[in-house]
Amino acid sequence: MASSFNSVFFFVIIFVSTSYAQNGLILPVRKDTNTLQHYTSIQMGSNRTTVNAVIDLQEQSLWFGCDNYSSSTYVPIPCNSPKCEIANGNSCQGCNGPLRPGCTNNTCGGSPYSPYQGFALSGGLAEDTLYSKNHVEVPQLTFSCVYTYSLVGLASGTTGILGLARTEISLHKQVANKLNLPDKFSLCLPSSGLGKLYIGGGLSRKSDVSKLLITTPLIINPVSTGPIFIQGVPSVEYFINVQSIRVHGEPLSVKSSYFTIGKDGYGGTKISTTNNFTTVYSSIYKPLTRAFVKAASDMKIKSVEAVAPFRACFSSSTISTTATGPSVPIIELVLPGNDVSWKIYGANSMFPVSKNVMCLAFVDGGSSRRSSIFPSTSIIIGAYQLEDNLLEFDLVSSQLHFSSSLLVQNKACSRL
Ligand SMILES: *[C@@H]1O[C@H](CO)[C@@H](O)[C@H](O)[C@H]1NC(C)=O
Ligand SMILES: *[C@@H]1O[C@H](CO)[C@@H](O)[C@H](O)[C@H]1NC(C)=O
Ligand SMILES: *[C@@H]1O[C@H](CO)[C@@H](O)[C@H](O)[C@H]1NC(C)=O
Ligand SMILES: *[C@@H]1O[C@H](CO)[C@@H](O)[C@H](O)[C@H]1NC(C)=O
Repeated sequence: MASSFNSVFFFVIIFVSTSYAQNGLILPVRKDTNTLQHYTSIQMGSNRTTVNAVIDLQEQSLWFGCDNYSSSTYVPIPCNSPKCEIANGNSCQGCNGPLRPGCTNNTCGGSPYSPYQGFALSGGLAEDTLYSKNHVEVPQLTFSCVYTYSLVGLASGTTGILGLARTEISLHKQVANKLNLPDKFSLCLPSSGLGKLYIGGGLSRKSDVSKLLITTPLIINPVSTGPIFIQGVPSVEYFINVQSIRVHGEPLSVKSSYFTIGKDGYGGTKISTTNNFTTVYSSIYKPLTRAFVKAASDMKIKSVEAVAPFRACFSSSTISTTATGPSVPIIELVLPGNDVSWKIYGANSMFPVSKNVMCLAFVDGGSSRRSSIFPSTSIIIGAYQLEDNLLEFDLVSSQLHFSSSLLVQNKACSRL
């Protein structure tokens, strides 16, 4: 008996988890040598417009100049909407010009801030798709559109700021929520060449530097600090618990209370990518430079007249060069734990101001009470001190993993 068989095709649908679901954004980081700013590149909107944005650990979200921005997927965030509330929208904005991205009515106003102009900008919140070169898309990313005249002070070729503070609308938080990734990011600011910003995980797992990383808690200053001060709201900046400073192995004799965060939010140590150099209160700066000059002199390094904004400068010809930069006394930021410190070698502590002179790249931040608008911070670790150091911000466990100088291991941010 003949029987007919139907060929049965099994269509096996395999959901391959592509880079989409599992990987975060890998973004390049470059240094602008004129301004010393570090910036990244993203693609935005249906036209995949390239936006170069300066990296700012203290800023709330992404913002850029939209005067020339065109995208069919751009959607303004309306006033009083849930998305406006999540973004802490603080006003309702309108616009008289022709309708375009950045010029819409009934638009939720964000709080974009220019660290280089020192004031808040006007900017409406919107959503659009972000694309990265490693083929990850972030749909409906919230950002602010500002006017092009707001871009004063930004490195040439850049049109905005990429904010990475501890807010609901910072890039890493939005990526974590939308792509279902842990709220983590890694930052490696290059001294030259191409560094990396990895959003959605740690970079170290992709290279062999993970065993070099030292862990310290990220602490939350209970008082709002920085430009957008909100009464009763904790700081969105990243603080670590530096307890003392050692120069050439010797602790500075500075009262430990100078390092701690007070009830009023003053003091403590935070990390900034938009300060060129580490800035410290005078009460720490003076003993620091004194100890450094003394230890340098013991190494037969010759002091020369200071060049502003620095106060301790040296004749380059009296300093030898090592794999970790100029051979000078090591500065250590001492952290909690058994002999845990962030070591700052010559490549991060000496800034060449001319062919013959290099200076201790730390700046006097004045006395602690001078600024009354918002609480000031004892130590602001600046970008020059972060270069060629890998930093992983883990906001799930509230920890910072850091490498100190990668040069010690004959690596650099451009070679990770
Ligand atoms: C950082 O340094 C550059 C180059 O010296 C200078 O042009 C710029 O004004 C400095 N920026 C700040 C915020 O001090
Ligand atoms: C915007 O586009 C116009 C016309 O192409 C150009 O002249 C102007 O410089 C652009 N502005 C910015 C900020 O790129
Ligand atoms: C960008 O997209 C718009 C549609 O939103 C289109 O009209 C325009 O021609 C595109 N511009 C460029 C430069 O591709
Ligand atoms: C916003 O509303 C005003 C008043 O109705 C109108 O004149 C203006 O053209 C609108 N702006 C845009 C960009 O549509």
